[in-house]
Amino acid sequence: MNILLLGSGGREHALAWKMAASPLVERLYCAPGNAGIAREAQIVPLDAGDHVAVIDFCRAKSIGLVVVGPEAPLVAGLVDDLEAAGIKAFGPSRMAARLEGSKGFTKDLCRDNNIPTAAYERFACAVAARDYVRGRGAPIVVKADGLAAGKGVVVAETIAQAEEAIAMMFDGGLGAAGAGIVIEEFLAGEEASFFALCDGVHAVPLASAQDHKRAFDNDQGPNTGGMGAYSPAPVMTPEMTARTMREIIEPTLAAMKAMGCPYKGVLFAGLMITADGPKLIEYNVRFGDPECQVLMLRLMSDLVPALIASRDGQLANFDLRWYPDAALTVVMAAKGYPGGYEKGSVISGLAAAAQVEGVEIFHAGTRADGDKVLANGGRVLSVCARGRTVAEAQARAYAAISRITWPQGFFRRDIGFRAIEREQAGA
Ligand code: AMP
Ligand code: GLY
Repeated sequence: MNILLLGSGGREHALAWKMAASPLVERLYCAPGNAGIAREAQIVPLDAGDHVAVIDFCRAKSIGLVVVGPEAPLVAGLVDDLEAAGIKAFGPSRMAARLEGSKGFTKDLCRDNNIPTAAYERFACAVAARDYVRGRGAPIVVKADGLAAGKGVVVAETIAQAEEAIAMMFDGGLGAAGAGIVIEEFLAGEEASFFALCDGVHAVPLASAQDHKRAFDNDQGPNTGGMGAYSPAPVMTPEMTARTMREIIEPTLAAMKAMGCPYKGVLFAGLMITADGPKLIEYNVRFGDPECQVLMLRLMSDLVPALIASRDGQLANFDLRWYPDAALTVVMAAKGYPGGYEKGSVISGLAAAAQVEGVEIFHAGTRADGDKVLANGGRVLSVCARGRTVAEAQARAYAAISRITWPQGFFRRDIGFRAIEREQAGA
């Protein structure tokens, strides 16, 4: 089968790496890709926003499955248009992608189906939002309703901060994404990323993971797309996984189906593990980045049949096998990220770094220039390693990083610290 993968991040490099190893795949194409993905797939100049061009390409190249990495094309309805043209695509329809595209939609779905989540209200104007915040007190969380590239959530420690966030969003600081807002209760606990592969009716849980969202060590600094991740997440015990499936994922699938928009694809639940059990912080309608990288390193089964079964509604009794090893990834980002940063600096030492035992380096934002690799994004590399424990995977990932020369980059030095503390306490 020929597959077209859409996206250009570390997540897509990991997906390309895993799919390229499948005996089912004849040709793997990727758009727009990056310098690392070019080792696994043929890069093609396609704009995922141009649905007609994507359909024409799929017909010309006899594409049997399109795999969509990021959320924007899903929310824009690319899967609907491909399927209408008779081309199989992995991922949710536009209506199902509202689980990520509209926070208000998801919160209402939770309320209507008794899915545990933070108490909330939706607002369309600043005055009512301010009154609500004053009534509830801080800490409190202010969220733009729409997609805001990770900038739409403000965890306000004070009422003044919450009012500032409300003013910023209603003043158009996030464009159309902030035209409506959700204000919700602050949840205390430990966060985990939970992934389930869904076929509209059935859900198969994937391995658990945790990411580090803040830019700097000790979880300090601004929120980012994720500066590192590891799997498994010790907080996701078998009991917590079973509760998450029963209390959150399964009722969501049933509700989506009842609404006439069954959910297919990967459902990514951002969870807070509270004293009362798992609560949903948000849904994403795609694999996490960088969580996908550690999941792909641990997945023993072929990924391609799982993606096809999700698309075809065939996940009942589907079984995935995982390596018992831990996996960890450290993201190397351009200095300045998540704010402004420069592109075009040279990265060297990648071949030597990849020699470290258990290491796999996924490119997140790179571009080839002859035989040089240049930085071409905020998050630039995802240096991953497997190990018997999270501590061993961490040591290997940092050993690989020490062989990489890139003065314009930075990375966190403490990825996995919570899991490693638990490993050491349990040892
Ligand atoms: P989101 O984009 O909804 O995942 O939010 C980004 C981050 O804000 C989350 O990963 C949490 O760290 C934090 N956050 C969001 N909602 C809440 C909440 N209700 N309580 C505590 N922290 C939250
Ligand atoms: N790492 C979190 C995300 O992909 O949204």
